[in-house]
Amino acid sequence: MTNSYSLAVLGGDGIGPEVTSEALKAVLAAAEIFGFEVDRTDFALGADRFLEDGHVIDEADIAELSKHDAILFGALGDPRVPPGVLERGLILRLRSRLRQSINLRPVRLYPGVRSPMRDLTPERCNLLIVRENSEGMYTSEGSTLWRGENRAVALQESVNTLEAVSNVVDFSFRLAERRRKKLTLCHKTNVLVHAGAMYAEAVERAAAEHPDVEVDYVHVDAMCQHLPLTPERFDVVVTDNLFGDIISDLGATIQGGLGVASSANLNITASGPSMFEAVHGSAPDIAGRGWANPMAAILSGALGLAWLGEPDAAMAVEHAVARVLTRLPALAGPAMGHSTEKVGDLVAAELQTHPGEGPDDALTGSVMGVLHGLRPARA
Ligand code: IPM
Ligand code: MN
Repeated sequence: MTNSYSLAVLGGDGIGPEVTSEALKAVLAAAEIFGFEVDRTDFALGADRFLEDGHVIDEADIAELSKHDAILFGALGDPRVPPGVLERGLILRLRSRLRQSINLRPVRLYPGVRSPMRDLTPERCNLLIVRENSEGMYTSEGSTLWRGENRAVALQESVNTLEAVSNVVDFSFRLAERRRKKLTLCHKTNVLVHAGAMYAEAVERAAAEHPDVEVDYVHVDAMCQHLPLTPERFDVVVTDNLFGDIISDLGATIQGGLGVASSANLNITASGPSMFEAVHGSAPDIAGRGWANPMAAILSGALGLAWLGEPDAAMAVEHAVARVLTRLPALAGPAMGHSTEKVGDLVAAELQTHPGEGPDDALTGSVMGVLHGLRPARA
């Protein structure tokens, strides 16, 4: 029987739709080669829709999106829309309503890509940031008292539930077990003593169940030094929502920029679809020009294939990306020298001519091969 997957495509704003079509191109090319089917449904949500009739997202949209096996997500954000409307109202709402409690962000230096860290080599940079994706500083709406007055007070507290913390920690241990067996907790336990203790205790409990995984702890500020200088120290880094947001941009810089940084918002309960999106935003300044690098979106599409249970296809897409990057390293830089569409064509062509061949052994230890094993059976 041919496997068939229904994909919701939410291109969103700015460069989102451009890079998403290239991700879709790679996914469809892989489907043809590896013999599975993909049906797509487009969702027109984002700034244009909001400016047209004030609609952001409602329960009916969420119910429609929930029917799909996965969501390919572009980017959201537009200077014409007040800050927070689309970020809190759409992205964060989707992550939370679809119970995508984990955000997986690989930090991998592909061969040929130049890192701003001068002497960094691909062998030294292959780690996963596992970001708690539903709470922490992101949960609370917060409140402001006496706004506009000298005595104004803004409240924005961090919410941490044992359930979410244990989930992200357990998932990270299971990932580490399938990789180099090293887990690092990144937090700020010396200042955020309550939230920090909850994470530290969850790690301690899980460590007892996974004695083969070596455990380490790094404060988030120190992480900003260790991550660029000695990324080889890290395999799986588990952290809270806001810290994960921040260190994953740092990770993206180290691996050659936001043009190559992918992510997966995972629902690990099988109660709804997971969502795959580049770490970068909508970059409205370059939208529509064909300058955006689609590699991050393509790699996010590959993470989607891996999660859905097509690891060979996922790995083939990653290899195709890596081979194109090796040939044309400028693709990882700010001035790619090729259009968004051209880069997507190169990846699809590479997939067709060399399905499954990587550049040497540089891609051993890819997350693409282990992701599906962490997914619960479909309800
Ligand atoms: C990200 C983004 C989002 C976040 C914004 C757009 C809400 O920065 O995916 O990293 O903070 O999570
Ligand atoms: Mn971010």
